[in-house]
Amino acid sequence: MTPLPSQHEPLRQAADAARANAWAPYSRFHVGAALDSDEGRMFVGCNVENASYPAGTCAERVALGAAIAAGARQFVRIVITTEAADPTPPCGICRQALVEFAPMLEIFAVSPDGRTARWSLAELLPVPFTPASLAHD
Ligand code: THU
Repeated sequence: MTPLPSQHEPLRQAADAARANAWAPYSRFHVGAALDSDEGRMFVGCNVENASYPAGTCAERVALGAAIAAGARQFVRIVITTEAADPTPPCGICRQALVEFAPMLEIFAVSPDGRTARWSLAELLPVPFTPASLAHD
């Protein structure tokens, strides 16, 4: 595992700041995410759980929703931070949500001690269902 490239440090800090606001009283697993658009705009999210468990949302999709609501449409990277000892990859639903807008997304996951894992979204979701899959006639 390589360290996070220093130019992405602001994303890590933003993800950590969002993680501090996570609402995760049920899992007690706090997640922060910072998404970088192709125009260099940054959007953050944290997980938002709910007493009705399936109503909860992951940090990555909260960041994506904020970005889409602000008009961003293409993304180059995401930094995800948790308190887990090992860097944690995005869940399957988040991979699917992200591939709609960023098939080439670069994903960094950073643990509290700074250990960093890097994947491409294509690596984590090699055969995605995309808008092209819907191709009507
Ligand atoms: N979680 C995320 O926010 N992102 C992921 O990619 C994996 C899981 C959240 C959902 C839930 O609030 C908690 O972590 C435990 O699954």
